[in-house]
Amino acid sequence: MSRKKIGVIGGGFVGSTAAQRIAEKELGDVVLVDILEGMPQGKALDIFEAGPVYGYDSMVTGTNDYAALEGAHCVVITAGMPRKPGMDRSDLLKVNGEIMRKVVSSIMEVAPEAFLIVVSNPLDVMCYVAHEVSGLPRNKVMGMAGVLDTARYRSFIGEALNVSVKDVQAMVLGGHGDSMVPLASTASVSGIPITQLLSKEKIDELVTRTRHGGAEIVNLLKTGSAYYAPSASAVTMVESIVRDQRRILPTCTRLDGEYGIENTWVGVPVILGANGVEKVIELELEESDRKALHASALAVKEGQEEVAGMLALS
Ligand code: APR
Repeated sequence: MSRKKIGVIGGGFVGSTAAQRIAEKELGDVVLVDILEGMPQGKALDIFEAGPVYGYDSMVTGTNDYAALEGAHCVVITAGMPRKPGMDRSDLLKVNGEIMRKVVSSIMEVAPEAFLIVVSNPLDVMCYVAHEVSGLPRNKVMGMAGVLDTARYRSFIGEALNVSVKDVQAMVLGGHGDSMVPLASTASVSGIPITQLLSKEKIDELVTRTRHGGAEIVNLLKTGSAYYAPSASAVTMVESIVRDQRRILPTCTRLDGEYGIENTWVGVPVILGANGVEKVIELELEESDRKALHASALAVKEGQEEVAGMLALS
């Protein structure tokens, strides 16, 4: 079986770290694309040269030319601009929406069958743009946010209980941002509900910290945002597809009536396998969580409508 080609768009912090992780896991040969000349080439060569040390055979190439993505199986999209001083949310939506449109149409010219895993922010709305521009079926376009938000939640639960994070299971629903919905009712440690292990006050504290997990890191870094956990999360999704693992992972997908939500891109648990989003899992939610999910979806829908107007999408 020939090795799969996996594209990574954007060779910045998230993109280059994702490329490294894909190579280390030997998920396929990596093509790293950026608009900056020499940067993706240099980083890719550096990752390739670590192969003999770590013992991986993945080919890693860097380029400014989308033609190198020909026939790619999966493409992780991290291209985008960070918010600059003076830019409001709408400005960022427009700038990153334009970048997403360009990137996705370039990918589609050479890899029309690719699975797209969107990482660029604002995540949920960028998934909408990627889907509209690509014309791909919904199972082929998805966003990475929930795996990261859930990883943060699981880390904080494990830390609070002083137990292995490996035994902590949890789910975070909704849009990526302050409106996300970390579920307390389904979180557990080795099958024990966290509601039996932690007080309500402590759980509320962990939920709040999870909601602001991205900002906590931005505040510490001063410039730039998180990339180790985001890249690990995106690569986990790639692995589940490439290796047909059928993991149930919180994934940004378009809801078509599930959870009573229509035509909106939000995070929910899905089975990720060889066909991408194989199935959306509908959970029975407590009333407060259901309301919070609907509020989160409404905020995303407004963003979708705003960007559709800006980019003249259908
Ligand atoms: N095509 C390819 N690459 C592009 C394009 C484009 N049209 N436009 C910008 N880029 C590249 C930039 O040159 C830069 O190298 O995208 C890269 C973004 O990298 P960083 O600025 O380092 O940002 P990073 O921290 O990697 O975050 C990327 O992921 O988590 C999200 O919010 C984050 O939207 C952001 C994205």
